[in-house]
Amino acid sequence: MPEIDIINEPCSEGVAIVIFGVTGDLALRKLMPALYENAKNSRLPSPFYILGFARRPWSHEKMRDVLRQGVLDYSGDKEIDSEILELLLDNAYYIESTFEDEDGYHRLDQALHQLGVQNTLFYLSTPPGLYSTIVENIGKSQLESCQEGWRRIVVEKPFGRDLESARTLDKQLHSVFNEDQIYRMDHYLGKETVQNILAFRFGNGIFEPLWNRKYIDHIQITMAENEGVGTRAGYYDQAGVIRDVFQNHLLQLMALTAMEAPAVFSAKAVRDEKVKVLKSIADFRGQSALENTIRAQYVSGTIDGKRVPSYRDEPNVAPDSITETYLAARLFINNWRWAGVPFYLRSGKRLPHRVTEIAIQYTQVPLALFGQRNLAGDAPNVMVLRIQPDEGITLYLGAKSPGSVMQIEPVKMRFSYAEAFSGDPPEAYERLLLDSLLGDATLFTRSDEVEEAWRLTDGIISAWATQGLGNLPVYEAGTQGPQSAEDFIRKDGRQWRRI
Ligand code: BG6
Repeated sequence: MPEIDIINEPCSEGVAIVIFGVTGDLALRKLMPALYENAKNSRLPSPFYILGFARRPWSHEKMRDVLRQGVLDYSGDKEIDSEILELLLDNAYYIESTFEDEDGYHRLDQALHQLGVQNTLFYLSTPPGLYSTIVENIGKSQLESCQEGWRRIVVEKPFGRDLESARTLDKQLHSVFNEDQIYRMDHYLGKETVQNILAFRFGNGIFEPLWNRKYIDHIQITMAENEGVGTRAGYYDQAGVIRDVFQNHLLQLMALTAMEAPAVFSAKAVRDEKVKVLKSIADFRGQSALENTIRAQYVSGTIDGKRVPSYRDEPNVAPDSITETYLAARLFINNWRWAGVPFYLRSGKRLPHRVTEIAIQYTQVPLALFGQRNLAGDAPNVMVLRIQPDEGITLYLGAKSPGSVMQIEPVKMRFSYAEAFSGDPPEAYERLLLDSLLGDATLFTRSDEVEEAWRLTDGIISAWATQGLGNLPVYEAGTQGPQSAEDFIRKDGRQWRRI
């Protein structure tokens, strides 16, 4: 392996991010553009080093070339300041090693010493199957650099594949790190609009009094994607939408929507409130899990005028796969604020558009004064928190349309993030990488949250396992989802918002 030839004073203020699996997609598409953006905005500590650790026989130069390309390709339309990018890459080094080889970790340790790094952020950007091995080896090689500095570890989702494996992973992490060093990543929590759920609810006086079972009929949380499984079938076919996004992103959105105001805005207080919500979600077992969920898989169809293949025909998907690519669920939170209010959650791949939103649907007016069920005609008042794209908040109201007849039409009041703050919100990874460097865990999930989410998810998965293969409904790519999901919500006298 090429030597690292920069020698600083030992134990200077140096900070390093060690990216395990630097040759993978996540490092290129998300981590590097986010690090660059933070560097451009002078948010990174100095000196700042990137140490890539992976199996491929790359040189430092080769890794720099690939990472450079990652920033250029995945920074959207943003203009890249090459001087800043090169400064960042000048401090990037590569360690070639298998994840099992202890010698690789010793070389990493030496490199950190040589660079004078005192504070290290380990980032697990590998397939989850390697997490245990890496953590164990970090522990064995006592990768500590200098005693006074900090060491933290970021663990990408999925955190385990069920409650038991999540607990095992947690145990392994805790044998090397303390809880306050562990940052469990759910990138949805880093999205500006997701953080805005709390700002909106607890920074304004007028909404919170209406935020409960008395005024809210139900809540719909939608995370729809028009993309298919892409190149990730190896992972996805084992996970399905329930492990991929329900256990984490969807339940996190639900927890933020439903939680009580924390006593203070601190990592502990926010996470305490979220975990209370997750604990209050009625547990599903057997028949009740089957009655409250719908799953389905996409077959070929047309999206944006283009024909797309069936899930089973995607590369690396088993031809008889029964993995679900669509999930709808009806959950209840058994507490005083929400008892009896259904939360409908749904997510799917190959739906017509990419949209994530939380729609709060208010109750109907008590009397049909204008000959219609509600001021807004058949559509009651809905407040939509749009997470992406077109980030913002829309309130749907009824208004009298001009003319001599008392005719009520639905109208909208809209806050647009881009208009109000001129420009698109920053990427989730920018914020989360920065927070982990600063030691702020508020936007990361705690182990009890992860476990509660698995408790619920495991109940659903084991109920599904009792259903035969023939029972998996399908939906055509580019449509709203399976017919069974329409019937599912219609049974409750409600309907999905259109995607
Ligand atoms: C990831 C899932 O966590 O989130 C992917 O593994 C999904 O399957 C992605 O496509 C969606 O993220 P975003 O930020 O594009 O909504």
